[in-house]
Amino acid sequence: MSNMYRWGIVGAGRVAHKFAEAMNHVKDAKLQAVASTNSKRAGDFAKKHSIPDHFDNYGQLYSSGKVDIVYVATTHNFHCSSTIDALNARKHVLCEKPMAVNASQVRQMINTARTNDLFLMEAMWTRFLPIMHEVRNIIKKGTIGLPQFLYADFGIRFNYDPQSRLYNPALAGGALLDLGVYCLALASMLFGRPNNISSTIKMTDTDVDARSTVIFEYDNAKVAVLLQALDMETPKEALIVGTEGSIKLHPIWMWGTDYTLKLNNGTEKTYKVDTNENGFVYQIMAVHKAINEGKTQCELMSLDETLAIAETMDALRSQWNFKYPFE
Ligand SMILES: NC(=O)c1ccc[n+]([C@@H]2O[C@H](COP(=O)([O-])OP(=O)(O)OC[C@H]3O[C@@H](n4cnc5c(N)ncnc54)[C@H](OP(=O)(O)O)[C@@H]3O)[C@@H](O)[C@H]2O)c1
Repeated sequence: MSNMYRWGIVGAGRVAHKFAEAMNHVKDAKLQAVASTNSKRAGDFAKKHSIPDHFDNYGQLYSSGKVDIVYVATTHNFHCSSTIDALNARKHVLCEKPMAVNASQVRQMINTARTNDLFLMEAMWTRFLPIMHEVRNIIKKGTIGLPQFLYADFGIRFNYDPQSRLYNPALAGGALLDLGVYCLALASMLFGRPNNISSTIKMTDTDVDARSTVIFEYDNAKVAVLLQALDMETPKEALIVGTEGSIKLHPIWMWGTDYTLKLNNGTEKTYKVDTNENGFVYQIMAVHKAINEGKTQCELMSLDETLAIAETMDALRSQWNFKYPFE
């Protein structure tokens, strides 16, 4: 029998609205509370999504006895402190991507979760989508042979606004942490941690990364080429090439439904994967399943893997001599 889980959202911004809508599609989820630093935003959010409790500070949500799991939906720079405060208040946590600004913060978060014996996961929701299950199955069955090469890009041209969370260094802006993390997570899912990293970089006038191309090398000459940009539209495609064929994920690959399987024997077919219109539901169900089973993490997006990705992002920023002002 599954339990009913009561969620609380911290940070009433854009992504939080999508998350709140996803709650309606998960039968054992209840959206109990929302907290925002802005009391009107908290009240409006609660009204819009029919949430019983709203608070104008995060601490009240953490200490609420009516919340079981906290969803951290603030800007990247607050992920670490919000997550640690929630865990220390004995709440399970699903934290938006990237888990934190750097690996040191991620380690502190993981340690706090382990000390409190509570669930923690980075909200890498795309990994839980049905299309990704199919991709993993195709690879596991050996249909495309051994994966050798990955190309993935995620570039969106955002209007230049130095105060926005994408361009503002104080909010840990930049393409890598916001967009590139999806490409890195796909590379990590396929090949693990790279042995060698090379990259190119272009910075914004606000001194965050506008655009980077990275090449990861793995054992046996396997390679991933990734492109992330906040100043340029890219195709938003991914291509996995194996020894016997390839899988192309159509735009927008991170949350798409269509892929083409092409084999060396000449066959080629495009598939459409049935997917809930709000793709966040799959990660929420995965969180519930893990907690129901007494687990403190999800195997599909483990804490060790989140940490490895954060360490790779640190290594890239180190190549670019790029630190945030608060680091
Ligand atoms: N999974 C996805 O598909 C997806 C999509 C978009 C974003 N995200 C992630 O979700 C997180 C939030 O992104 P978002 O687009 O929702 O951000 P957002 O709407 O700009 O801001 C989210 C919240 O962060 C706080 N915040 C924003 N700017 C601030 C500032 N200047 N000073 C202090 N607090 C500030 C506010 O919290 P209060 O309401 O408490 O004031 C705001 O409501 C990011 O880490 C991002 O990577 C994920």
